[in-house]
Amino acid sequence: MSAPQDFSALVVRWQRTHGRNHLPWQATREPYPVWLSEIMLQQTQVATVLGYFERFMQRFPDVRALAAASQDEVLALWSGLGYYSRARNLHRCAQIVVVQHGGAFPRSAQELAQLPGIGRSTAAAIAAFCFGERVAILDANVRRVLTRVLGFDADLAQAANERALWLQADALLPHQQLAETMPRYTQGLMDLGAGICLPRAPRCTQCPVQALCVAYRQGEPERYPVRTRK
Ligand code: ADE
Repeated sequence: MSAPQDFSALVVRWQRTHGRNHLPWQATREPYPVWLSEIMLQQTQVATVLGYFERFMQRFPDVRALAAASQDEVLALWSGLGYYSRARNLHRCAQIVVVQHGGAFPRSAQELAQLPGIGRSTAAAIAAFCFGERVAILDANVRRVLTRVLGFDADLAQAANERALWLQADALLPHQQLAETMPRYTQGLMDLGAGICLPRAPRCTQCPVQALCVAYRQGEPERYPVRTRK
């Protein structure tokens, strides 16, 4: 793909008018609700998360309230969302933030990624949304978008190729330094992955980066991402 600066500008502009801008956790740049939503969204669709997010925020309005709860209560409120290790890590993370960080989430992706349940991409999403950090995300949806746009066909089962894709994701980041740029770019990639760049039958005619997309030009977007085993 040519012209990476065009890519981010197109994603940012498209997100403003076509992206999701009214999700409850987007009403704030507070790390607590953003973190809570990102953990819930790791393996669960937005429509399912909405009710759980509201109930958690009602019962545990801040990280101290969550840290002070019993694990049983947290698990009970999580019940139905699945992947219960997420709930146990959530509770442990809240306790670490309170005890070791004085109740304030750390403000860099690097430090956020040290906390339980927060992997590299989730840490980057929180840092980009809350603090505008210029840092790449690469969750399953975004991996699909970027491998297709780039025509990145190396096998992602190999760690070296996965690392190379992270470097490509870094290279595509916006250079513009407006406060809204990183939150909007990050959300835009997620929105493209969720609504346009679908695993099967992607909606290329509605895609803002179609003109840059190598997989589209090749005519076989569904071939990406390439991975030989889980
Ligand atoms: N999936 C992961 N993070 C998300 C977010 N912030 N908005 C919508 N879907 C997501």
